[in-house]
This record gives sequence, structure tokens and C-alpha cells, in this order.
Amino acid sequence: MNNIDALKQELVETVKAANDIAALEDVRVTALGKKGKVTDMMKTLGSLAPEERKKIGQALNLLKDEISAEIDARAATLKKAALAERLHNEKMDVTLGPRPFPQGALHPITRTMEELAAIFADFGFSVAEGPEIEDDFHNFTALNFPAGHPARQMHDTFYLPDAAGEEGAEQAPADQKRLLRTHTSTVQVHVMQNRKPPIRVIIPGRTYRSDYDQTHTPMFHQLEGLMIDKTAHMGHLKGCLTELCKRFFEVDNLPTRFRPSFFPFTEPSAEMDIGCSRGKGELKIGEGSDWLEILGCGMVHPNVLKNCGIDAEEYQGFAFGMGVERMAMLKYGIPDLRTFFESDLRWLKHYGFGPQETF
Ligand code: DAH
Repeated sequence: MNNIDALKQELVETVKAANDIAALEDVRVTALGKKGKVTDMMKTLGSLAPEERKKIGQALNLLKDEISAEIDARAATLKKAALAERLHNEKMDVTLGPRPFPQGALHPITRTMEELAAIFADFGFSVAEGPEIEDDFHNFTALNFPAGHPARQMHDTFYLPDAAGEEGAEQAPADQKRLLRTHTSTVQVHVMQNRKPPIRVIIPGRTYRSDYDQTHTPMFHQLEGLMIDKTAHMGHLKGCLTELCKRFFEVDNLPTRFRPSFFPFTEPSAEMDIGCSRGKGELKIGEGSDWLEILGCGMVHPNVLKNCGIDAEEYQGFAFGMGVERMAMLKYGIPDLRTFFESDLRWLKHYGFGPQETF
């Protein structure tokens, strides 16, 4: 019996000394396992007298239960401590600000379109969109480009193969010939066909022309504007675009001028210039005596209104269109158009905008 007490004493000490779950498992094996100390003592029972065997047997069973309970209690304590330590170490400070070096950036085109849309939103214009694959009617005919008109040639259009391209199939009528839109003016047509005036929309989007050099890429972006009501006139057009340019270029007394021009879908038509200086190869907007052309505009031609189902006796309006890359190049000093589409990470990091940069 003394042996049992001593063993109990010894095992209770080793259980207490086990400092982690793995060590505790070792204790369990050395004490209660097949070759463990308690089991060893059990094996000696056979050689004892019956009375003695019963007594020692009961004591050993009790010891087994006690040690097992000791181990379980110790395991619970160790697990609790381990969890407490983990919770302490994995604490997170939710008051930390945003990461100092955010990954990714907004492309200057995206940023410029968002800036323009925000200004036009203040003027009451909403954003409209339309398809990039168009037909001849929306790209040309409805916009008052008659068949064979020389202005059509200026657009270097990408035509798509006829839908009915198979041999023997009928050719699509000229108006339905499919193409990639050469300007966002196509969406003017969709908007006028589907909405009732008053209309006040801007249309940012991709456009396509078969042209590639330092100032042309086959895909580029335009931002179109359309305003239709009963009284809109050239004065409104000038006021709206002048205010837009002042805000966009952040120059309060920006000089502007409107030169007569020609577009089939507007009458009269104009091009708008802003004042600049070009001293020593450096372009400065808003000062000096030079002029820089930035957009085309005009009063919507009555034929266009009629082609889109709007009563030209009752309604009138103005429209404008600008190149988004050009606006971005001028505002952010980006010298080469082609770099917009090269996906060069260094360029994107340099000219891109972080999501937290507000305007
Ligand atoms: N669609 C013209 C172009 O791509 C730009 C333009 C000029 C749009 C005058 C207009 C406008 O709405 O009124 O060259």
C-alpha cells in the first residue's frame, strides 16, 4: 500500500509538472498506458493472496481513476491557458488606418471620366450608355450623314462582316451594316428614341477608328453630352461648357472661345478652345495668348431630332463631344497617347490614382 501512495504522489507531481498537452500525453502513457507504471503494478496482482489481491486491486483501480482525473483537469487548465495566450497574441487593433501603400490604382481614363461625370452631375446631367457594336443607322444616317457624304470617310470605320455572311445569303440593307461605333454620338440617337424631353445626359465610353500614330489609337474614349428641351440655345451651351472647363482644369478665369466648325449632326457647329501658353515646350493652361482646341459642339440639327422621333418644331437642344484621353493628357501632363494602353506598371503607378484621392 505504501508503494501505491508513493506512486500516486509521484504521478500527481509529474502531472502538475507537465507544461503542455504533448508532455501531458507522455505522462498519461507512462502512468496508465499498456506498459505504464500503474499497469505494471496491476500485473503483480496475480501473485498475491486473494484477500490482499482484492484490497490492492481496488486501490490500484482507484489510483487509476484519480490519476486519470488529475490528467483531465490539467489538460483543461493547459487548454484554457493556451487559448488565453492565443487571444492575447492575436489581438487586432481595429483603430488602425488604411494600409499606407495601397495596391492598385485607378487608370487616368477612369479617373478623368469620373471627374467629368461629377461636374456634370452638379449641372443636372445623368450618365447614359449604349452599345459599342452599332449599325450604320445609329452611327451615321440618324446623325444626318447622308449616304456617300464625305464626312463618313473621315471616320475610318471598322466594319464587321455581314451577319448573313454565308454564300447565297442576302446582303444586309446599308442602314443595318454592323460596325464599331466611331463616336459616342450614336448614344444620342438611342437616348432620343427612348426618352421624352427634357433630356440632359452625358455619355462616356469607348470608340473605335482604324488609325494608329502618336495622336491616334484604334480604341479611344469620348464623352458626349446632350441637352434637349424647348428653350435651350447657344448661350446655354457656351455657359455650360465654359463652366465645365473652369472646374475641370481648376482655373477660375480660364479664357475660352468658340470657333465656327462643321459636324453633320449640329447646326450651327463650333469647336471650343481654351487659353494656354506653350513657352519652352511646356504647356500651361489658363494663361498666355495661345489657344488649344478641346471639343466639338453645336445645336442639335433638326434632321437629327426628326430622325429620332422628336418634334423639331417644339424641341431644340445642344450637344458636345470631347476626347477623354486628350482631357487627361492636358490636365495631368501625360505626353504620349499610346502609353494609356500599354499597361506598363511603372506608368500606371506614376499616373494612376489611389482610391482615397478625392476630387
Ligand atoms: N462626334 C464628334 C467626333 O467624334 C464629336 C462631336 C462634335 C460630338 C460635336 C458632338 C458635337 O455631340 O455636337 O468627332
